[in-house]
Amino acid sequence: MHGKRILLIVGGGIAAYKACELIRLIRKAGGEVTCVLTEGGAKFITAMTLAALSENPVHTTLWDLKNEAEMGHIQLSRAADLVVVCPATADLLARMAAGIADDLAATLLLATDKRVLALPSMNVRMWQHAATQRNVATLRSDGVTVMEPDEGAMACGEYGLGRLPEPEAVLAAIGAMLGEPGRLAGRHVLVTAGPTHEPIDPVRYIANRSSGRQGYAIAAAAAKQGARVTLVSGPVALDAPKGVDVVAVETARQMAAAVTAALPADVAVMVAAVADWRMDKVSPQKRKKVDGLEIDNLLLVQNPDILAGLAVSAARPALLIGFAAETEDVLAHAAAKRLRKGADWIIANDVSGDVMGGSRNTVHICRESGVESLPEMDKDAVAAALVDRIADALR
Ligand code: C5P
Repeated sequence: MHGKRILLIVGGGIAAYKACELIRLIRKAGGEVTCVLTEGGAKFITAMTLAALSENPVHTTLWDLKNEAEMGHIQLSRAADLVVVCPATADLLARMAAGIADDLAATLLLATDKRVLALPSMNVRMWQHAATQRNVATLRSDGVTVMEPDEGAMACGEYGLGRLPEPEAVLAAIGAMLGEPGRLAGRHVLVTAGPTHEPIDPVRYIANRSSGRQGYAIAAAAAKQGARVTLVSGPVALDAPKGVDVVAVETARQMAAAVTAALPADVAVMVAAVADWRMDKVSPQKRKKVDGLEIDNLLLVQNPDILAGLAVSAARPALLIGFAAETEDVLAHAAAKRLRKGADWIIANDVSGDVMGGSRNTVHICRESGVESLPEMDKDAVAAALVDRIADALR
């Protein structure tokens, strides 16, 4: 993002504070930020804060005579490589869609010939309202990129779609729009995801509650950063992420074979909840229930540990990452698992709640140097944050 200039319009929503973190990330990536603060935005955050973080003057009004003498609103967008609206309130989206130019933000959005990224953030019902959805559709057909909001708990106390995506995910979207090659360009990232199904007979199998969502989100985030991604996936009900090669498998042994076939890789992120055991012999016919007798005859054998095997293989990726789904003593178990499996990092998550199958996750990154705990986030945001750290580690 070196030398790229972002014109950041901060609208009047509670998520305005996230614009601060976004400014910090853009600048860390080498970009420059100039802010426009709407009247509503100024109710949530001050121009002083934005000026201090961006180290640039903040523009608030259309009727600044000095600037208007120079056609300030035209000049502002002319100087930018990309215009980002964060947060884009329902009102601002409506004004954009209708072409209304009643303040500085709306006027320069109408005057700009630069690409525009809008980040809606609002109450779930405002987001789902037919008027907002109509406005979003109009904006998209006008060429504006509108990022989907995240799902989660909201400042208004409700739950649903409407949260501003985490700043790391927004930064990745900005990079993609600027045509940046991505932080993982030229790298091959291998991800395993989902459960495995271990057949008992033609109609039954052993499985677990993994939905595959976290692994799919990591694969998608790595692809967004320009990586070639191979996703070896157990049976899940998810669509293949854009730009990712999905290899569908059913059992642990098939997953192990698919992982070997996908090597070499620069990074392997083993998110799959691989079944520890499989049937010693899969019955070719449906087993009969004969007073529990057949249940006692379920002779199980251990599956290969794909992660531990990869750690000692000649084709070990430079960065090998495992997950540890635990329900107690999460960090202690994760630290022990890191050593036992020979992984570089273990991502520990507490699955005692509804994490498995849910949309949110709280993770702790356990490395040799210590533990970094991330706040509870949407699984997409966890993925973006992890991919960011992976890119840092490969630098
Ligand atoms: O031992 P446990 O199943 O808790 O280890 C979890 C980590 O090991 C995850 O990264 C998982 O993908 C990986 N794993 C594996 N093959 C197995 C079991 C676990 O790759 N058979």
